[in-house]
Amino acid sequence: MSIEIIPTGAAFGAEIRGVDLARPIDDETFAAIEHAYNDYAVIFFRDQHITPPQQVAFTRRFGEIEFNIFGERWSVPSSPEIIVVSNVTEDGRPIGVRRAGENWHSDMCYASRPPRGTMLYALEIPELFGLALGDTEFASTAAAWDALPERMRRHIDGRRAVFDFAGRKRAFPPTQAEIDRYPPVTHPIVRTHPVTGRKCLYVMRDDCTGIEGMEGREAETLIDALADHIVKPAFVYRHQWRVGDLLMWDNCTVQHRAIQDYDLPQRRLMHRTTTGGAVPL
Ligand code: SIN
Repeated sequence: MSIEIIPTGAAFGAEIRGVDLARPIDDETFAAIEHAYNDYAVIFFRDQHITPPQQVAFTRRFGEIEFNIFGERWSVPSSPEIIVVSNVTEDGRPIGVRRAGENWHSDMCYASRPPRGTMLYALEIPELFGLALGDTEFASTAAAWDALPERMRRHIDGRRAVFDFAGRKRAFPPTQAEIDRYPPVTHPIVRTHPVTGRKCLYVMRDDCTGIEGMEGREAETLIDALADHIVKPAFVYRHQWRVGDLLMWDNCTVQHRAIQDYDLPQRRLMHRTTTGGAVPL
């Protein structure tokens, strides 16, 4: 396959052309894709037609599949590695996770080893008279770090934040057993990307409930200021979905949120897979 990489024009993100994910991908092509993934943090392939096993196989090329609690309730029956993200109901019951990720976040940051990346494959996209709805926004935590004043860099480098699974309000409140599975953990506020070596801010509202060695109010003010800084327009790419898009993001270099500007009968249906990651350093 001969691949073409088309940057989005935002601070990061690129479309990859010339790849059919339904066909075997040779090692050289895969290396070019992985290189682009590390460089651009968000990459996407348009007009794909893939089955759940093909999505799982492609995800596995990037590392072991990561399972999260939603998969236990809303996975694709024949492919438990895939979580259904959807607002669709059948026989009065949701077929997938609704309103997933509507606030800025990085996936499973509350885990001791948060996932390397996440992949979404778009099967149905809501629209209004041809206008696509249900976009996803991404914000570069690396560009946000690069833009910080030196004094702030010195103030936060080396500090650790507390990440608490119970901190965020979810559309489907977790059970006590699920909460118990993820006791609070600490991660560095300034992470180093394991491949590119770029420094990335790793802090967000709700999931971050404190900063080690800092008094509550002071920590809250800092968390809010950094969370707002990360999502400034200059650091954001907004993806307008098309059916057949397969998009993947790097959970160290970007945060994301799903725009909830649609409702039934407008349907959104995505298949999501996640690859495991390392302890943040
Ligand atoms: C998510 O946060 O994983 C969901 C993103 C989306 O549905 O756009």
